[in-house]
Amino acid sequence: MTKKRRQRGGAFLMAALAAALLTGCGGGTEKSVKSIKIGVTVYDQYDTFISQMMNMFTTYASQKEEETGVGINVEILDASGSQITQNEQVRTLIEKGCDVICVNLVDRTEPTTITDIAEKNEVPIVFFNRELVAEDLERWNQLYYVGADAFQSGIMQGELAADAFLRDPSLDKNGDGVFQYIVLEGEAGHQDAIVRTEYAINTLMEQGVEVEKLGYAIANWKRAQAQTKTTSMLSQFGSQIELIVANNDDMALGAIDALKAEEIPREDWPAIFGIDGTKEGLAAVKSGEMNATVYNDKEGQALQMLNLVYALATESGLEDISLEDGKYIRLPYSKVTQETEGQTEKGTS
Ligand code: BGC
Repeated sequence: MTKKRRQRGGAFLMAALAAALLTGCGGGTEKSVKSIKIGVTVYDQYDTFISQMMNMFTTYASQKEEETGVGINVEILDASGSQITQNEQVRTLIEKGCDVICVNLVDRTEPTTITDIAEKNEVPIVFFNRELVAEDLERWNQLYYVGADAFQSGIMQGELAADAFLRDPSLDKNGDGVFQYIVLEGEAGHQDAIVRTEYAINTLMEQGVEVEKLGYAIANWKRAQAQTKTTSMLSQFGSQIELIVANNDDMALGAIDALKAEEIPREDWPAIFGIDGTKEGLAAVKSGEMNATVYNDKEGQALQMLNLVYALATESGLEDISLEDGKYIRLPYSKVTQETEGQTEKGTS
């Protein structure tokens, strides 16, 4: 890499991170220590999974700073759902001297402006969670992606639902041998929404469960939207619904909110499955309100992203990072049921 490393004065350790979060990428001025500056832009800071992942990212950055003595300044910006805003944020972060930028794309089909600016300024980009198409990642050799394999989460969710149906005859409320379901989908066009739904339902069928789709709704990963959409499907299909397949935990929780608001007796609830294992999702699995979820390893993704960013920014240790096709890091999902809950979460406070 040819980029000149900027040796600026940096604030120290925890203070540096705290200051960076408040004031941006600019470091302190007292001493000349080696420090790195990491810019992050997220598609929506109110997304539960993303905000919990970012908490872990800043925690790991502080730990790395303590371990290595290298100042790590992190600035996290919220694109608030606008790709145009996000493009500008990347430009600003580069002007502020960030060594590497992590981008949670608003529109995963529109990375071109960002990759062009990054290449021109020779600042590596680590995309995460919202996966761009492979050809876009090939546009420059300093583009990376950290995430997970969407199809694996769909398969696991389908297996969990099949297992529940085959083990518990009471889930087949009308006794017709068919699992009648509705789906709550994430954003249209998001790799995880498309793939999770398809694989979850196909897996259910492959496991020998006959299914019937009653309806679906796009709730954009959001709990409140899922509550509204579930309420309307409850009024349309009522007790015919035996299964709610949600593309993430927040939407599964929204479905639970709807069931509670409609005062549907607990024993009449359909089976509900989520994906993510957010704090709130895990609590719902623990209490039995959600039948199961699939853990989307936010800690693993945050840690691997931090390690990659650190290696790129310090130009050291990249050889120790295992990259698929020289560009990808994907963390595996895992199943969480009431029996296994508690063994899963890896470090959120
Ligand atoms: C998560 C969702 C999240 C979305 C944001 C998905 O991988 O499962 O909870 O809303 O990413 O892009």
